Amino acid sequence: SDGVLVDRYGRVARDLRVSLTDKCNLRCTYCMPAEGLPWLAGPELLGDDEIIRLIRVAVRQLGVTEVRFTGGEPLIRPGLAGIVAAVAALEPRPRISLTTNGIGLDRLAPTLRAAGLDRVNVSLDTLDPERFARLTRRPRHADVLAGLAGAAAAGLTPVKVNAVLMRGVNDDEAPALLRFALAHGYELRFIEQMPLDAQHGWDRAAMVTADEILAALVGGFALTADPTERGPAPAETWLVDGGPARVGVIASVTRPFCGDCDRTRLTADGQVRACLFATEESDLRGALRAGADDDELARRWRAAMWGKRAGHGIDDPTFLQPARPMSAIGG
Ligand code: GTP
Ligand code: 5AD
Ligand code: SF4
Repeated sequence: SDGVLVDRYGRVARDLRVSLTDKCNLRCTYCMPAEGLPWLAGPELLGDDEIIRLIRVAVRQLGVTEVRFTGGEPLIRPGLAGIVAAVAALEPRPRISLTTNGIGLDRLAPTLRAAGLDRVNVSLDTLDPERFARLTRRPRHADVLAGLAGAAAAGLTPVKVNAVLMRGVNDDEAPALLRFALAHGYELRFIEQMPLDAQHGWDRAAMVTADEILAALVGGFALTADPTERGPAPAETWLVDGGPARVGVIASVTRPFCGDCDRTRLTADGQVRACLFATEESDLRGALRAGADDDELARRWRAAMWGKRAGHGIDDPTFLQPARPMSAIGG
């Protein structure tokens, strides 16, 4: 039973994001409360073999060509390297990437590289260790810098850095973050804050917009059009000072890119989400544990994607934030 993950608007999902855990070892203020969240219970989580099975269906029967592991924090999943190795052994081999906060990446990068991981995106919102500790509620700034360096040394390139700017917190750091990225050969992307926090405290007026970020950069850097094709990438990119270095902005709110979306998502408890902002999920775990064969799983996945909405609708008066926060969806 063949057929790609196409929706009623003709978009084809070739990029699968797999959340490996909803837990995290940081507590970023824009993501979750200090005490953490009610985490998924052990039996709710897909096992390593179940994750590998679903990814195999996605790659072999549904046309997925890129697999990204996310969290929570994916590096805290004990079976990560084994999962990466199993996915790297699939035919046709998908590209394999990881989005992480960088803690422990220093130590794990060589193992993950050897297992078949191609590249990493690392979150870093500030260059100041004390600000980092306030923002993430953990004093781990040095670990993230070490993780970035370890990833580059292990060849997990291009290493991308994700930064969320918050007004009055770190919105003065755009030029310094870019200088840091340029000096180390990392590709920096600024992300507009989205209404996906556990505490539903997102405020559009407080959000630092793409226009503001670009305005903060143009005084110090020459930004010119990037000739490489954007395709379905969330990031709009510019060449910095003539290139080849680039900087990106992921402007989900002020410049949405839903019309080109090529994503499908699998949560750590085995639910397919057609969109980051979907309010419905499709239960693959139940089907899998009830003995469904690969064709049946593929059929359910296709059905889930067919119902994908045209866009996130953040600006609609009727917009409702999804019930689950970013950390449980996988970003
Ligand atoms: P590459 O471009 O392949 O390197 O990855 P990416 O930028 O898509 O992934 P990453 O996990 O680094 O995500 C960066 C930011 O983009 C995060 O804030 C994600 O939540 C956001 N993002 C990723 N995919 C989507 C999407 O489909 N829609 C929206 N609105 N945001 C997304
Ligand atoms: N809006 C935008 N980006 C967010 N991230 C976490 N929560 C949000 C949010 N509400 C970022 C993280 C990480 C990336 C995967 O998503 O900082 O860099
Ligand atoms: Fe795709 Fe939804 Fe993200 Fe829009 S918000 S780009 S539809 S996942």
